[in-house]
Amino acid sequence: MRKITKAVIPAAGLGTRFLPATKAMPKEMLPIIDKPTIQYIVDEAIESGIEDLIIVTGKGKRAIEDHFDNAFELEYRLMDKEKLELLTEVQRSSSIDIHYIRQKEPNGLGHAIWCARRFIGDEPFAVLLGDDIVVSEEPCLKQLIQFYEQMNASIVGIQPVKESETHRYGIIDYTEQMGRLYRVNKFIEKPTKGTAPSNLAIMGRYILEPEVFDFLEQQEKGAGGEIQLTDAIQRMNEVRPVYAYNFHGTRYDVGEKLGFILTTIQFALQNDELRTPVLSGLKEILQEEKMLKIV
Ligand code: UTP
Repeated sequence: MRKITKAVIPAAGLGTRFLPATKAMPKEMLPIIDKPTIQYIVDEAIESGIEDLIIVTGKGKRAIEDHFDNAFELEYRLMDKEKLELLTEVQRSSSIDIHYIRQKEPNGLGHAIWCARRFIGDEPFAVLLGDDIVVSEEPCLKQLIQFYEQMNASIVGIQPVKESETHRYGIIDYTEQMGRLYRVNKFIEKPTKGTAPSNLAIMGRYILEPEVFDFLEQQEKGAGGEIQLTDAIQRMNEVRPVYAYNFHGTRYDVGEKLGFILTTIQFALQNDELRTPVLSGLKEILQEEKMLKIV
């Protein structure tokens, strides 16, 4: 069995759902409270035992590289002003070694992963998408790695979603369920409304065998005119079994506006300093809405 030490974080998308904010700023740098979403993802990878990280970037994504780089002047000033807690936070994000590769055109998630093929070589590897932040006792990716170590097969992280939401996700059709583990018959990217075979949706965490690159290499454009990772995984599944694992933990969807706003509120309510003032702010807003008979 080969150990999982490498992970790919694709971050080269256009982030159209957050325009105009993402015209000049990467969507992955939008903060939940005071931490860019991509840092939650990098932290999860490291806590799961990943040693080598590659971020796939594109045009206008320099801020991501700067965020994970040293910031000598800022660090010097924080030290000078004895803001040591902030200094530790700032230094933490530059303490890991991250590699970068450019996806020259945003041709889809599948294409972004394919761009990392030389870095990965002939090893199984992890993929983490920044659209989903998972809070769990055991890091989500670590749960998948443990299953990979038992099954020695590619595995994707899933969770149930509302029936009315299935058209937004990659959905699995399964033949067998073993506790939280599913033997997948078919992966379907964004099924049209009312046609999804289940409500189990792919959630931005994968352990993939390197053979997936052979399928990505020949993958044609799918949903949205993009080269879809789900389509390549499905073709691989036809010759090498791919499993799905319903991971433990709460998943926060930060890839679209409503999810992003609700996640910010929920994270603020879990923050000792912010909980009370945010609650009283929310109460005031609700009272005003009640007076106007909106809620
Ligand atoms: P998304 O579809 O959620 O991201 O892709 P997006 O395309 O940036 O956002 P919208 O839909 O236009 O609002 C999931 C992940 O895959 C990356 C994105 O950066 C995101 O982290 N991605 C997507 C790429 O790296 N390259 C692509 O060509 C497409």
